[in-house]
Amino acid sequence: MEALDALRLQIEWGADEALLAAPVDRTAAPARGLHPPGQASAPSVMPPAPMLGPAARAADLAALCGTLAELRGALETLEGCALRLTATSLVFADGNPHAGLMFVGEAPGAEEDRAGLPFVGPSGRFLDRMLASIGLDRSKFLITNLIPWRPPGNRNPTDSEVSLCLPFLLRHVALARPRRLVLLGGLATRAITGNAAGIRRTRGRWLDLAVPGLEVAVPTLPMLHPAYLLRTPGAKREAWADLIMLRRALDADLSGM
Ligand code: URA
Repeated sequence: MEALDALRLQIEWGADEALLAAPVDRTAAPARGLHPPGQASAPSVMPPAPMLGPAARAADLAALCGTLAELRGALETLEGCALRLTATSLVFADGNPHAGLMFVGEAPGAEEDRAGLPFVGPSGRFLDRMLASIGLDRSKFLITNLIPWRPPGNRNPTDSEVSLCLPFLLRHVALARPRRLVLLGGLATRAITGNAAGIRRTRGRWLDLAVPGLEVAVPTLPMLHPAYLLRTPGAKREAWADLIMLRRALDADLSGM
């Protein structure tokens, strides 16, 4: 029963992914006598050779992808991001890549990880309802995340995970060439625009985003994340104002076409 309680506690704290195939008993005393006194013990697994600028390598790799299928393939075999190893699935995208409208969230949760599709859990269902209220369904936009793998226990991605995944996300935008981009939440907004002001300040205004590989800047609207709206119902007013802003911009695009 004690072991079961300990397991429950670990799950509560977010340790819900196994990192190694075999369990390691970290409470066992270290083996003695293997190394002469005074010498450091040799690591049992050699650390990988330090990578030279992993983010720069990620940018080079992403730039080589000429299609969305190639980009997906590059992510499926990407070295150097431990999230790929702990996740069940790569969560690449859903919706219509030709729609001209693209949404970017933060990172998949448990349901997305199981399904291999973004925004299919509680916040995704809420987002679908929000977007349906302005006449949008997944045939009318493409949706993806800044981070394509679920961080274990839904923890926030680290800065190095963000900088490794960002070039792939920017390439995703460059290949889909949306006429408009919507960023869902503070993490995606900060990483993609570089604006650290906080989502409550940056939301509700279109900004022009320069994307490598695109000749013209993409009009981009930061919005509150649906998970935040579920936790903070008082913020739904602001989200509704942003949705109306988005609908008006799409209508203006349609009437100008
Ligand atoms: N599900 C996703 O796919 N992305 C988020 O940002 C949150 C939930």
